[in-house]
Amino acid sequence: MIALDVLAENVVGRCRLLADWSEETGAITRTFLSPPMHAVHQHVRGWMERSGMSVTVDHAGNLRGFYPADRPSAPRLLIGSHLDTVPRAGALDGILGVVLAAALVELLDGRRFRFGIEAIGFSEEEGVRFGTPFIGSRALIGDAGDELLALRDAAGVSVREAIAAFGLDPARIGEAQADRNALGYLEFHIEQGPVLESLDTPVGVVEAISGQSRYEIVFEGKANHAGTTPMNVRRDALAGAAEWIGAVEREGRGTPGAVATVGRVAVSPGASNAIPGSAVMSLDVRHADDNVRHGLVQRLLQCANEIAARRCLTVSCEQQLDQPSVAMDPSLTHLLARAVVLSGWSIHRLASGAGHDAMVMARRMPAAMLFLRSPGGISHHSDETVLVEDVAVALGVGMRFLEELERSLV
Ligand code: GLV
Ligand code: MN
Ligand code: MN
Repeated sequence: MIALDVLAENVVGRCRLLADWSEETGAITRTFLSPPMHAVHQHVRGWMERSGMSVTVDHAGNLRGFYPADRPSAPRLLIGSHLDTVPRAGALDGILGVVLAAALVELLDGRRFRFGIEAIGFSEEEGVRFGTPFIGSRALIGDAGDELLALRDAAGVSVREAIAAFGLDPARIGEAQADRNALGYLEFHIEQGPVLESLDTPVGVVEAISGQSRYEIVFEGKANHAGTTPMNVRRDALAGAAEWIGAVEREGRGTPGAVATVGRVAVSPGASNAIPGSAVMSLDVRHADDNVRHGLVQRLLQCANEIAARRCLTVSCEQQLDQPSVAMDPSLTHLLARAVVLSGWSIHRLASGAGHDAMVMARRMPAAMLFLRSPGGISHHSDETVLVEDVAVALGVGMRFLEELERSLV
């Protein structure tokens, strides 16, 4: 059997190798079913097959490896995370969880349980290309209908067309639904924050994932000549947007436990000598309490309207996501916590501010998550990293978890 530290080293090496497959040279950018995803599938497929799994790609573009149980008609445990990235990403967000799932099966070295294991590389979690996250996991829970398929990216390509361009059949996306006989879903993921590092511990057990609201906000004014238009008659969309972004930061800071972010601004016409006629922005608001999140969003939208009225602008606010907070399943999480203790570590429970496929899967089946320490608390950045020894701990915990799950079924 391969040693844990060697396999952990391989896992990190594989994640770094996948980082070469990007839409951009010199940076990791891999959005939903973009061309480099073909090569990523090919590599991960190889590792899954080497672990004894049979591998398919469903019609939402999720890569799925299946390792059978020791008996026919057995239930299965799903283990996964996502293969897409944010622009100029790190090498581990999502990817680590997929590579680790395949490695965990490799570690079994042919050993079988009363349940099968399905490892999943979700095609989309970040919501970069279509403004809506979780396309891959939504397909698994049967929530990928016409409305989702009709969404269009910045180039006007629909989800339906993107699926077809990848060589899949959007009409068959319904077949991506998870097996009815699923025991639950487990996800390994880097923490993407500083908590585990500050506690000097390699892994943590996730209790809940914060809810998220995402909007597209458009301020419209009037583009005009920057040299000839007096300041008092301007209708500058970007100046209004800037005032509002300041309010987003202030209100976010003033709401304990909340985070509020404008991460993208597109200005038109976008010339140094033209007054901005429009500013299109993203808004991302998160909080563990859905009522607090909704209240904060309402205040921010009202503030956008007030700014627009005062500046003779118009503003439109289109909701793209209202994802409630999700608690992880107590029974599956108990097994995971037990696996941490049996591996010789103390349990640290924490909430996730980042969204994860687990929060979608939890709508359909018990879900649990294990976080790995993020050195420097850095993520969604090329400096994102993980310690090989922490990956070895996670593999050990994963193995204990499988054994505990087996015991719970006897
Ligand atoms: C996913 O990384 C998120 O935005 O939470
Ligand atoms: Mn991410
Ligand atoms: Mn992620």
